[in-house]
Amino acid sequence: MDLKQHIDKENLPQHVALIMDGNGRWAKQRGQERIFGHEQGIEAVRDTVKAAVEIGVKYLTFFAFSTENWCRPHKEVETLMDLLVQAIGTETPELNENGVKLQAIGDLEALPAKCREKLGEAMELTADNDKLTVTIALSYSARWEVVHAVQKIAQKVAERHILPDEIDEEMFVNALETANTPDPDLLIRTSGELRLSNFLLWQIAYTELYFTPVYWPDFRKRHFFHAIIDYQRRERRFGKIPTTETLLSKNT
Ligand code: IPE
Ligand code: IPE
Ligand code: MG
Repeated sequence: MDLKQHIDKENLPQHVALIMDGNGRWAKQRGQERIFGHEQGIEAVRDTVKAAVEIGVKYLTFFAFSTENWCRPHKEVETLMDLLVQAIGTETPELNENGVKLQAIGDLEALPAKCREKLGEAMELTADNDKLTVTIALSYSARWEVVHAVQKIAQKVAERHILPDEIDEEMFVNALETANTPDPDLLIRTSGELRLSNFLLWQIAYTELYFTPVYWPDFRKRHFFHAIIDYQRRERRFGKIPTTETLLSKNT
């Protein structure tokens, strides 16, 4: 069955965010080191990007490394950073050919120099692409982001550029790492965990959540399409009443 046929192109999520979880358990199941799972996870990222391009999703955000992940054993962190540098090197040319723009959010200053360098090059190369924007969250946590945004705004108040009363949602959104990116319509978390683990807490106020038991290294196009189909069965209300009832009440 071609799952894509079941996707309504008129009702696509514009932005899909993904918490890529379960690499360690996937590796353990196979009697391997955790890092083997991280390596295999790259194939899942590749397939997800292809799936998004195929159906026309405009934004993907991948949670790749959290602020809290720095507390993992040194060896795992080090190998993850090396893997990131390597993946950016091998994947960027194809991303560029496919019209993908690469962005990063998070405390990038905390990353090793080599990582920042590679990321910078990839972002510069792909800056003018507009088919799909892929954002990687690195050394990212939502609470860090919110505190950082507050610091930026407080600085403006201290310098008397703005008054406290002038702070509104728009100003706050623009101080977040995700300024210029629409809020996610759909959030996918793999590995069966039913939590958000400090990811995009402000931005997901009205995001549809989708949890799958599949471990990230096994995640493929078909899983992505299943999530989209599930999303399209839902009615997003944003605090209002169902659209059918709105129509009826207008007619009476
Ligand atoms: C997700 O997989 C990748 C990162 C958080 C970097 P995990 O490494 O968390 O794998 P599990 O959850 O331990 O299986
Ligand atoms: C969330 O996964 C972070 C990333 C996917 C990068 P974790 O494995 O770190 O989350 P917890 O510890 O299960 O909440
Ligand atoms: Mg995990």
